[in-house]
Amino acid sequence: MKGKVTWQSPSNIALVKYWGKTDPQIPKNASISFTLANCHTTTTLNYIPKKEASDSFDFKVFLEGKEKQEFAPKIEEYFKRIELYLPFIKHFIFEIHTNNSFPHSSGIASSASGMSALSLCLMSIQKIINSNISKSDFFEKASFLARLGSGSAARSIEGPLVVWGEHPSIFGSSNLYGIKYPGLVHEVFTTFNDTILLVDKGVKQVSSTLGHKLMLGHPFAQARFDQAQDNMSRIIPILEKGDLDAFIDLVEKEALSLHAMMMTSDPYFVLMKPNTLKIIEKIWAFRKTSGCHICFTLDAGANVHVLFPNKDKELASKFIEEELVGFCEKNQYIRDNVGAGAIII
Ligand code: DP6
Repeated sequence: MKGKVTWQSPSNIALVKYWGKTDPQIPKNASISFTLANCHTTTTLNYIPKKEASDSFDFKVFLEGKEKQEFAPKIEEYFKRIELYLPFIKHFIFEIHTNNSFPHSSGIASSASGMSALSLCLMSIQKIINSNISKSDFFEKASFLARLGSGSAARSIEGPLVVWGEHPSIFGSSNLYGIKYPGLVHEVFTTFNDTILLVDKGVKQVSSTLGHKLMLGHPFAQARFDQAQDNMSRIIPILEKGDLDAFIDLVEKEALSLHAMMMTSDPYFVLMKPNTLKIIEKIWAFRKTSGCHICFTLDAGANVHVLFPNKDKELASKFIEEELVGFCEKNQYIRDNVGAGAIII
């Protein structure tokens, strides 16, 4: 059985952040994210059965048509972690062809969309081998596998809001895979916008993987994990009622708490750049004078995600173009919004 399969998987932006984990990719707190619509990875997996069985993984990785040997160790590590759950992997020779909708060196992490796209491709092969698997089991296992590649990838399968990590108030939540947020969601949150300001497109000086490790033994770790669990409880009525003021307060607090953890790690580090702060200050000042429900969040980098509801789109877009884009590297930014999840192509 030889063939190929293609999935397009979205990126996501966390509202309550995952920062700190134990083996094997078990988060220290629950997190919730918006699935994005325009930032995505498309992966085609070509597979050919090996003529003779061997005990090694056989694959090549290509990004935008060019072979990338430097990606091989990460994929090898990933295959090792998931082999137990997909025993067929060693029976095939793979070619992984991957393309991102966003520029490679944009500072936008491709690990969430990339790992979820690859996991979905592997699950499609699994489904050919065992066609009995239901749609919900398919997505659950794809998220489970994606998590083993990159934690936040567990949240990049479905949309518009996904929870990963056990939380007592969120039915069905699990440390092992992401689930579609099961609570009531006010319509204001089903069409939210996320404009990503590319403040710094360079390679980060500290990777997320190292940052997570530094949470072990971090003096404020337990307080941070408790705060995140508490924010997960607080976001439930916010999402239900469409309470934008409370949403803004919670989301910005989460972003700054995440970066506060980085600044107080040992060794300490700062991923924000001067322009990150300038943008934040501009957003605060504009919100005060305009009443526009605009806010920011950050992931593990200097780029700023500017969030606003559709009803404020005109006002917010004008403000972003006139006052914020000048702080971006080469004036580059990406307009995105909440999306529905991965699709097979
Ligand atoms: C700050 O999922 O990239 O974006 O599990 O080591 O691959 P690994 O880390 P990763 O961490 C993401 C951290 C974050 C917050 C979040 O997305 O929740």
